[in-house]
Amino acid sequence: MKDVTSYSMETQALHAGRDPDNNHGVVNPPVYHCSTVIFPSVEQLLATRRDRASGAYEGFTYGREGTATTRAFEDAITLLEGGYRAVVTSCGLGAICASLTAFLSAGDHLLIVDSLYGPARTFCEDFLKKFGVEITYYPPGIGTGIAALFQPNTRVVYFESPGSLTFEITDVPAITKLCRARGITTIMDNTWASPVCFRPLSHGVDVSINAATKYISGHSDLMLGIAVCTEEAFVPVKKTASGSGYCGGPDDIYMAMRGLRTLPLRMKRHQESALIIAQWLQRRPEVSRVMYPALPDDPSHALWQRDFTGASGLFGVVLNACTDRQFAAMLDHMELFRLGYSWGGYESLAVPTYPSDLRSAQPWVAPGPSLRLHVGLENPDDLITDLERGFARMAQAA
Ligand SMILES: Cc1ncc(COP(=O)(O)O)c(C=O)c1O
Repeated sequence: MKDVTSYSMETQALHAGRDPDNNHGVVNPPVYHCSTVIFPSVEQLLATRRDRASGAYEGFTYGREGTATTRAFEDAITLLEGGYRAVVTSCGLGAICASLTAFLSAGDHLLIVDSLYGPARTFCEDFLKKFGVEITYYPPGIGTGIAALFQPNTRVVYFESPGSLTFEITDVPAITKLCRARGITTIMDNTWASPVCFRPLSHGVDVSINAATKYISGHSDLMLGIAVCTEEAFVPVKKTASGSGYCGGPDDIYMAMRGLRTLPLRMKRHQESALIIAQWLQRRPEVSRVMYPALPDDPSHALWQRDFTGASGLFGVVLNACTDRQFAAMLDHMELFRLGYSWGGYESLAVPTYPSDLRSAQPWVAPGPSLRLHVGLENPDDLITDLERGFARMAQAA
């Protein structure tokens, strides 16, 4: 495979993880549908056992452990994120669970951000605690103040920046510096930014997670996760993912790699449109606050500008007080912002959010209901018309 590291992100995304010269001239990598891998001899079978024992994970042994299709995708994302190796999982939550369990044992302490993706919080509460992991949720804006929360048994610090639903940026480089000095492993959910807008490993993070379900695949048609690791973190994450049965299907991996080719272009358009819509929303009387770090007056803007190279199309909106009926009247009949939990696809989505259910370090206070918008690739004027009609329905329902 050619070395494309000297090129820009746009060019790397187009050429990463494929090698036509070693694939009969075919542009895209092949899709291996595989459970069984045949070994030509006992010696070669034993060689793969030695490969596993040494932590190299180069050869292929069984479908669950990955194939050349898996490896092509892992290599592509590793290149974009600037890592050592990556591990594909069946979905983003799988990458989160595998990465956490790779480093945590009974009696260890986990520091995890309070504005965490809801199902990851549920995993912490319902599973990690059950297995004896002590958990402290830290406020996303804590910065170096996190040092006061370190305990002798603190093993992992976990970031999601910006946070789910409320979109605060955490000072990742300041915290990873403290963690490195203490031998604490750091893990980050980088799904909002994707490698186009933030490269966690270059800010000191050990494991960077992407739900490839979202922007990387970009078409709302598959589930996939990936954890990009430093050299030290790779074997623990790979062993845990394989040993727990997390693996991605070949067609989903192929589709995600197809999406990856246009990721930088899509991210640019998502950001441009999201900024237009976020600023339009800020001028609306129905809106109390827009939570989007790319907005110049957002409390996280300075950190975002310092560390990120762009923004995605996902942000939060807090409305002024209105009735449940008014809120539903707005969201029920949207034509373009359809109601749905996901994001990162080409299409716009909206969902009501309930941050107070998911915060324990700091209470969530807001004058009215809140929602999350995913600004897709539609023309932003059309999206504004859709929102304008929504606010008109809201007024009629008063
Ligand atoms: C920030 C974030 N991380 C991870 C995930 C989980 O990804 P998946 O749905 O592929 O498990 C999601 C899904 O919504 C998410 O919003």
